[in-house]
Amino acid sequence: MIYNSPRGTTDYYGKDIKYIEFILNTAREMFKIYNYEEIVTPHFEYTEVFARAVGENSEIVQKEMFTFQDKKGRSLTLRPEGTASVVRAVIEHKLFGENLPLKLFYAGSMFRYERPQKGRMREFSQIGVEAIGSDSPAMDAEIIWLLNSLFKNLGFKNLKLHINSIGCPQCRKEYMNVLEKYLKPYEKDLCADCLNRIGKNTLRVFDCKVETCRKILKNAPKISGSLCEKCKKYLQDIFDILKVLDIEYFHNENLVRGFDYYTGTIFEIISSDIESAQNALGGGGRYDDLMEEFGGPKISSTGFAIGIERTMLLMKDLGIILPNFKNKTSKVYLINMSSRFNEYLFGILKFLRHNKIICDTNFNMKNLGKEIKWAQTEGYSHVIIIGENEVSNNLLTIKDLNNFTQMQLSWLNEKAKVLDLLK
Ligand code: HAM
Repeated sequence: MIYNSPRGTTDYYGKDIKYIEFILNTAREMFKIYNYEEIVTPHFEYTEVFARAVGENSEIVQKEMFTFQDKKGRSLTLRPEGTASVVRAVIEHKLFGENLPLKLFYAGSMFRYERPQKGRMREFSQIGVEAIGSDSPAMDAEIIWLLNSLFKNLGFKNLKLHINSIGCPQCRKEYMNVLEKYLKPYEKDLCADCLNRIGKNTLRVFDCKVETCRKILKNAPKISGSLCEKCKKYLQDIFDILKVLDIEYFHNENLVRGFDYYTGTIFEIISSDIESAQNALGGGGRYDDLMEEFGGPKISSTGFAIGIERTMLLMKDLGIILPNFKNKTSKVYLINMSSRFNEYLFGILKFLRHNKIICDTNFNMKNLGKEIKWAQTEGYSHVIIIGENEVSNNLLTIKDLNNFTQMQLSWLNEKAKVLDLLK
């Protein structure tokens, strides 16, 4: 019997692992440079945590959660996103001290029961940040700057940063009335989902992918028309800082996001190279009321998350080459011609690994020519041949696979030269 992985999940190996490692390492390094510290939360929470934060009427809570009961009948849910868990943990451990903002980052699997497509999985990974405890537009600007720089450092050139404000509760309430009034005459033409959204989650109609709904919404009044002076100024302050930082952005007045916790600023980083709905590589926004709603103090916060798989898929589609494929750091393959030479081989492996040189050996004996060819296709830069002659005379035969030059060095007294050659 051969089993497949469950629908919407993927196995990663080979080059994919290198891409994932590069994305994670780049993100972790940048988060640390921007002074964010890691937090690790469980893969599941009490269902209430997500239902409350993400919103009872949101698509995620209504249709996409992996919810189950434990043996004591408690309702648990595999996390569909990271923000709710981080806020729950910050309140539970009273991490909000004098020194705000608390700058946290996290990485790990998320779970959403969505219809699987390219770039849309049921288990996927995110890396994200949450800046807890600042209501300054400078905090939004820093978060957006970090998101933008991260994708630049990953090698992307054609991404667009979409930013919008969904206002404070007062302007949003006013806008809801305006929008509902606008939609009233079109009710018979709207899809069932949009009809259902009206009154409960009206803003979410902008998420609709149905062509008739999109046409109707094209001429809908924009939320910017309903923003109060304070919300308008707040958004303008962010734009002013982004200009100083030389960050290009697009004020997308139709941008909405699928979580109820957002207040004010929201943003997404979008690829114009992807036609499908899976064109958002990352997104986030401000959530000023969530802490209080979870029983914590009134602390304003903002954050974002990026999708690792979507980022990797696009890097591969666009042919973005990983830096160490480009600069070819040394990678050495030791070809041992006989198990009789194992002692000699392990002495060399120990020396190279101690000196942090990436190396491996053939654990199964094959033909020398075949081994060299294989090493070349696997991206090795050098091979070291260990045969009768080398072992009897304490030599190393080193072949450079980039230019096919070969040299012999003494293993006894030319170790420094070996390192020089391979580093
Ligand atoms: P989100 O926009 O739902 O935001 O997810 C962030 C990113 O995760 C998306 O842009 C996408 O790249 C990836 N993603 C989402 N769903 C899937 C899926 N089914 N398959 C593959 N990738 C996916 C959040 O999750 C918020 N918690 C972000 C945030 C943090 N807001 C404030 N702080």
